[in-house]
Amino acid sequence: MEGTDTVYRTAAWPGSPPRLLRESREPEDIAAYREQGGYRPLADADTLLHEIESAGLLGRGGAAFPLGVKLRAVRRNGRAAGGAVVVANGEEGEPTSIKDRWLLRNRPHLVLDGLRLAATIVGAKRGYVYVSDPDAARGAEAALAELGSDTLGGVGISVWTVPPGYVAGEETAAVRAINGGPAKPTDKPPRPYEVGVRGRPTLVSNVETLANLPYLQQRGSSAFRTQGTPSSPGTFLATVAGANRPPVLYELPHGLRFTELLALHGVSSEQVRGTLMGGYFAGLLNRTVLDTTLDHETMRRAGSGLGCGAISVITDDCPVAVAASVLTYFDRENAGQCGSCFNGTAAMAAVASALRDCAATPEDVDRLRRWSVVLRGRGACATLDAATNVAGTLLGQFPDEVARHLSGDCRQCSAGAFRAERPYQATAVIA
Ligand SMILES: Cc1cc2nc3c(=O)[nH]c(=O)nc-3n(C[C@H](O)[C@H](O)[C@H](O)COP(=O)(O)O)c2cc1C
Ligand code: SF4
Repeated sequence: MEGTDTVYRTAAWPGSPPRLLRESREPEDIAAYREQGGYRPLADADTLLHEIESAGLLGRGGAAFPLGVKLRAVRRNGRAAGGAVVVANGEEGEPTSIKDRWLLRNRPHLVLDGLRLAATIVGAKRGYVYVSDPDAARGAEAALAELGSDTLGGVGISVWTVPPGYVAGEETAAVRAINGGPAKPTDKPPRPYEVGVRGRPTLVSNVETLANLPYLQQRGSSAFRTQGTPSSPGTFLATVAGANRPPVLYELPHGLRFTELLALHGVSSEQVRGTLMGGYFAGLLNRTVLDTTLDHETMRRAGSGLGCGAISVITDDCPVAVAASVLTYFDRENAGQCGSCFNGTAAMAAVASALRDCAATPEDVDRLRRWSVVLRGRGACATLDAATNVAGTLLGQFPDEVARHLSGDCRQCSAGAFRAERPYQATAVIA
């Protein structure tokens, strides 16, 4: 929920009982959460860690990194350093994603329970819920106020709020902010699992990733794997935007056909020109998206990614104009710390915008193509990679549209090009 009168619409995949979504306009309070089996005492942290590993739970923040591997590393480093810290990352900088703030506003106890379980596994006594959305912060604070100190097994949890920004949710930015600095990324190594909050090894995990832990504690890895594919197990939250429709937050089994999602969302395949994947991070996919299934392995093969699960369906908009808007967004939102990033995103945004306006030359497009390759991996964080993904996928996936803009005949853009500060931003709908 947002405020008192706006909501995000949610829906689960028919026949797949939701594990994370909940059908109620009221935030779940502690009594309702306990009724579902929440805050169950953890008898044996090792058993739960094994279940997490057997479940193959992958991070839902964007990189799909196995949670079990990270938990083991933080636990090992924390023992050597005399303690670890856990952070639930709910900053959700991707403009087209709403899943983390939905969870924190509507099911804050599910997230806190997951954070408690992760803290117990790594031996942390300190945890943070890291956010920028005021309602998400209020949701987490209200849930913390309902809890007795013994419920969290002696783990002290507080909410840490930062101003919103695309880079603010990057893991080193989160650690830097909690340490009192700006929410901007730092050079790696060290990574947070080595040296993080107050110098301690720190688990930074996405809110949705952690929200899967109570299910695993209660039902185990075999039940977890009854949904999803062998390499992308379980369900995931997908914010679906675009196609001239209000965004909907779905809980879907990994491996669902994209066309099945379209049918659920009420969009005909014929209308689809492509998608913007992973929020903005994974860039554009053309109509080949219609042949994909929604799992990490298939998306990687298609040259794309699920990322944080946010999918924007492009129907009427020109992909060149969409890419220009997203690159301009990255030009505004990068942290301005790395020369290759702030110069590179500005240059890519300028060429993409000129192309949209049918004012670019073939040499400009060649330069854009070269930048999309050589700038990859050159920033302290992966924002520059996101920008190169957008530029590279525009050129690779939509060559005909690019050629049309070079010869000055995109009728659509000539009639008034798509321009948005935050294309397909997922804002709430009025109830
Ligand atoms: C530029 C940038 C922004 C990011 N923003 C977020 C974010 O808002 N929320 C998030 O959970 N992860 C974000 N990440 C990923 C985090 O760095 C980190 O990998 C993640 O929080 C780990 O959680 P997970 O393993 O559960 O996915 C971002 C990464 C980059 C490069
Ligand atoms: S790569 Fe870009 S966004 Fe990331 S730290 Fe450097 S300047 Fe900031």
